Amino acid sequence: MTILVTGGAGFIGSNFVLDWLAQSDETVVNLDALTYAGNLENLASLDGNPRHVFVKGDICDRALVDATLAQHKPRAIVHFAAESHVDRSIHGPGAFMRTNIDGTFTLLEAARGLWSTLEGEAKASFRFHHVSTDEVYGSLSPTDPAFAETKGFEPNSPYSASKAASDHLVRAWHHTYGLPVVTTNCSNNYGPYHFPEKLIPLMIVNALAGKALPIYGDGQNVRDWLYVRDHASAIRAVLAGGRVGETYNIGGWNEKTNLEIVHTICALLDELKPDPAGSYTRLITYVKDRPGHDRRYAIDARKVERELGWRPAETFDTGIRKTVQWYLDHAGWVANVQSGGYRDWVAKNYGEAAAA
Ligand SMILES: NC(=O)c1ccc[n+]([C@@H]2O[C@H](COP(=O)([O-])OP(=O)(O)OC[C@H]3O[C@@H](n4cnc5c(N)ncnc54)[C@H](O)[C@@H]3O)[C@@H](O)[C@H]2O)c1
Repeated sequence: MTILVTGGAGFIGSNFVLDWLAQSDETVVNLDALTYAGNLENLASLDGNPRHVFVKGDICDRALVDATLAQHKPRAIVHFAAESHVDRSIHGPGAFMRTNIDGTFTLLEAARGLWSTLEGEAKASFRFHHVSTDEVYGSLSPTDPAFAETKGFEPNSPYSASKAASDHLVRAWHHTYGLPVVTTNCSNNYGPYHFPEKLIPLMIVNALAGKALPIYGDGQNVRDWLYVRDHASAIRAVLAGGRVGETYNIGGWNEKTNLEIVHTICALLDELKPDPAGSYTRLITYVKDRPGHDRRYAIDARKVERELGWRPAETFDTGIRKTVQWYLDHAGWVANVQSGGYRDWVAKNYGEAAAA
């Protein structure tokens, strides 16, 4: 049996692929365009593993997606591929509309094409698993209840609006065509292989380089945080047992302000790699807030717990310690990302044509 993963060279996708291959005997076909966020070094441990088939390509390329589905006939598609960084979506929203909306549309149509050729048990058990975000729900006040699956969408950034649009498409392809879909809306992930443009890895690598730790606004924006391998286990649980057509919110029950996160990282680095110049907190710098910055996200994850028995394995304390330690142990990975050297990996391993 085979599953198709899109965006499996990105942060969450690569953690999911590694987790999947460790937990199951199925093959993973990994379709990824290798944008700046795609890094095959994340999957270096799979070199030579015949159960990982990498296909470099764009989810907006219908002919390529059709050919990939026809060749591998996956029993499920787990769709991670997206433009994912809010700040980038503010400066250049076009790529977000293209990949997150058009790309999801293309994938849904191709999946529908494959699914319509299936019969019996293969047709009934086929799944299109759409990986989405809590950001589609909008922003909460400090006293609002956490997001339940029934909460209406109120996206505020080009990123969250494009993800909300893709969630709607997935829902419509189920209601209109009967495509067997499930959607998960997850809170902020953190962990290994996180590109250092996002809060947690940026703070770790900047602190280690003695650079400023920039905090937007007053640092009081609240996010719920989930260790990335717990997101992978939640997706496995929903793919295996989630009810078709349903959405499941995934979260870690870890609401933290950005300032708390940065202080926690500084405290761990002070312990694990003390700087003779003094505590890393000296590097904290407040910068002008992000336009339209959502104040608070919080996830009510009771549905996935109740229906599927899923719980995160990590607390924030255990997950953030593992994460900081991972960055300390993987200075080479960080250096390659910062120098852009990770992009040479494709040319080295797949030839110059694949890198073009
Ligand atoms: N990072 C989070 O905290 C978080 C939280 C909840 C949900 N999500 C969702 O999870 C998914 C993965 O997020 P991430 O943080 O791993 O993202 P990421 O930016 O690290 O990785 C995205 C991957 O998609 C690939 N990609 C981009 N455009 C493509 C295209 N047109 N065709 C094929 N591949 C393409 C990139 O090369 C990259 O490997 C996204 O859908 C995101 O919305 C992320």
